Amino acid sequence: MKDIFDNIIKNNIDFIKDGKVASYIPELAKSNPSDLGVYLITLNGQEYYAGDYNKKFTMQSISKVLSLMLSLIDNGEEVFEKIGMEPTGDSFNSIVNLELKSIHKPFNPMINAGAIATTSMIKGNSTDEKIKRILDLAKKLSNNPNIKINEDVYLSEKTTGDRNRSLAYFMKSYNVIEGAVDDVLDVYFKQCSIEVTCKDIANMGCVLANDGISTKTGKKLVSKHICRIIKTLMSTCGLYDASGEFAVHIGIPAKSGVGGGILAAVPRKMGIGVYGPSLDEKGNSIAGIQILKELSEKLDLNIY
Ligand code: DON
Repeated sequence: MKDIFDNIIKNNIDFIKDGKVASYIPELAKSNPSDLGVYLITLNGQEYYAGDYNKKFTMQSISKVLSLMLSLIDNGEEVFEKIGMEPTGDSFNSIVNLELKSIHKPFNPMINAGAIATTSMIKGNSTDEKIKRILDLAKKLSNNPNIKINEDVYLSEKTTGDRNRSLAYFMKSYNVIEGAVDDVLDVYFKQCSIEVTCKDIANMGCVLANDGISTKTGKKLVSKHICRIIKTLMSTCGLYDASGEFAVHIGIPAKSGVGGGILAAVPRKMGIGVYGPSLDEKGNSIAGIQILKELSEKLDLNIY
């Protein structure tokens, strides 16, 4: 293992030059495209890391795992009366299927429309209470009480989030989401702006890999059933319109975000967090995917 981690950044760093950092959220454009890091935690507590594993980045779409988890905790599988379970083959912020299909619900909880809908189903008396519940979940799953929202990224998302606004108003018109659109979006923009490191998302991956039980405290944080639903949707939809290719080449349940992170959960084995803000054209970390490919091949992690 040491040998793999000594060389893993060197083996994959060249891929970053074929990608670009996200710029549609201005604050994300400030990320350093050369950053690349990885953190792996096994369920029996061994930790391996390399590169920029300590750099902070925002969860972005990885937070879709948190809002799906909390909406399932709050509502059970009623969530799927409003949101589907099928991959789209379209980009993460696509609006096309919402209008064209006869049932106007988002295809799955891992695309923007689906995540805005799961966020709207989280219970709480105010937007502050809802975001606090999401943040508390992030702290518990990562075993890190210091996790915070990056206010600059949040404001940048809020100022430029017109596509998400249009998705939300469209869904509101079909009663997919209830409540005030601005409030739902405020929670969504804040959850996307939760700041983490590779270690934090590796720990989150461990809880999913371990069927909901924290390997750090032994506490049950979420049910096995919910973990199974989430890992399944990560496998089929976690990398948007690259999910099929990722399943064929890597074969690990994973969720990416345009901040450059990818959270991976290898059932009954380990959690892995990677960070590399240089993205491919589908919005996934270009070198991060290659790191996961190397780990999957060398450690025989493909679940299929
Ligand atoms: O809603 C957005 O556009 C971003 N806050 C998150 C999207 C995202 O991470 C898609 N990822 N690959």
